[in-house]
Amino acid sequence: MIHILPATQDDTAALARVYVDTWRNQYAGILPATYLARMSLAEYQIKWAGYLNIPGTATYIAQTDKGEVIGFAHGGPARDKDLDYFAEIYLLYVAPHCQQRGVGRQLVASMAQQFVNIGLWSMAVWALRDNPSRGFYDVLGGERLAEKHVRVAGENYIEVAYGWRDIRPLTSAKGLASQRRQS
Ligand SMILES: CC(C)(COP(=O)(O)OP(=O)(O)OC[C@H]1O[C@@H](n2cnc3c(N)ncnc32)[C@H](O)[C@@H]1OP(=O)(O)O)[C@@H](O)C(=O)NCCC(=O)NCCS
Repeated sequence: MIHILPATQDDTAALARVYVDTWRNQYAGILPATYLARMSLAEYQIKWAGYLNIPGTATYIAQTDKGEVIGFAHGGPARDKDLDYFAEIYLLYVAPHCQQRGVGRQLVASMAQQFVNIGLWSMAVWALRDNPSRGFYDVLGGERLAEKHVRVAGENYIEVAYGWRDIRPLTSAKGLASQRRQS
């Protein structure tokens, strides 16, 4: 059983661990190996403490019954105004050993529900063109909208934008976010 919960400052270490582990696994052979090797858990824990405080954004974690955080989604208002979509998923990562089990779909459902709740009915997401995981967005019905050049880890890459004009169908996946547990 996976629980989708709003992230709190207690989750920064777990968010950093999932982020760094998934980057190293997913982007091996795509991003420079030296960059991936140098990613620091301590540095990302500090970054997450900041991300969680950005007004207007939301972050959800996916947690097992045993309390292990195995994924997260982070999003908010669309950053690229040219696309004319209201909301954006900024980051979506599921730990390598937990992928292909429906966790990503549940995280997207909770994020989409949060956007709908505040009147943001359309959503975009950007993914590296070289990232094989972007097939996930095709499966979820995302429309390929645009490409742009980006600098990542000191190198040039191309990102692809996916968009959903109406995200209400995305909210129907099982496992929408629960209320945060009391601790
Ligand atoms: C992309 C990601 C979040 C998807 O999460 P997930 O938990 O593995 O996906 P799910 O199990 O919820 O899959 C939902 C559907 O998408 C499909 N899918 C998942 N990954 C896919 C892929 N790489 N290519 C094509 N389809 C994919 C699944 O088969 C499933 O289809 P179904 O419902 O018809 O059976 C996850 O694979 C991940 O974290 N990847 C690495 C990080 C990354 O690239 N994040 C995106 C950066 S923009």
